[in-house]
Amino acid sequence: MIYERYFKLTESDRWELETDVPWQEIDAGMACGQPDVLEKLRSAALIESYAPMFALKSLSLWWESVEESAIASIQFFEEYKHYYALKRYLDRVGMGIPEREVIEVRQRNFGTPYGDRARHLANYMISEHFTAHFYKRLLEQAKEPVLRVLLNFLVRDEFRHANVFYSLLERRLELEPATREAIVEETLRFRHQGAEVVGEAIPIAQKNDFQTILSLWKKVEHLTGVSLREYRKELMRVSTGAVQSSAGIPV
Ligand SMILES: [Fe+2]
Ligand SMILES: [Fe+2]
Repeated sequence: MIYERYFKLTESDRWELETDVPWQEIDAGMACGQPDVLEKLRSAALIESYAPMFALKSLSLWWESVEESAIASIQFFEEYKHYYALKRYLDRVGMGIPEREVIEVRQRNFGTPYGDRARHLANYMISEHFTAHFYKRLLEQAKEPVLRVLLNFLVRDEFRHANVFYSLLERRLELEPATREAIVEETLRFRHQGAEVVGEAIPIAQKNDFQTILSLWKKVEHLTGVSLREYRKELMRVSTGAVQSSAGIPV
């Protein structure tokens, strides 16, 4: 069972919000010296605050799979924990997030359901991949020591999330080989799930992060056995160049 393995890993990897982050030592002056980092952190926090909505909408697709819905139970706990920790940090440095704003982003897409199940699973894995690398890049930039402690925990969690969704996709492919195409197409037309929350204001820690994109492509090629470059060439050939990769990889 993927759940059993993941549950054990999550338990052994868990960090304590109250005791593992030295909240009393936050250097607000130093943090405010990097307003760009704080702005990105604030957008990331809003995306994390959306966890109950991701739960509500995702489970309407995953409820039929005991494995997928079980993983979701851990997933949403941890994402909201991320929001709560980031919110606490932002409160302490004077950039709090009012409850009104959390509700506003939920209202925006409340009635829009998710479509294809395999695509959604793939989108989740890819979003987690980019989120892990986003926090990793932010960690490279952040100077304030307490934020660095917190970001280290987030990076570790997000890579674990990306890995478990990879395992779920492997399992889905075993059960339904026909989902291969949906996974490949989702990769080529990818839009981060955070865009549902903050739209074009989705935070980017490093522009044109080709290393992160290439590592994703390798992952998906390993998972599906499909060459994304060749697949995209073929797509472009049949649609006379109308299809563009959101990942921005040059052919
Ligand atoms: Fe998160
Ligand atoms: Fe995550």
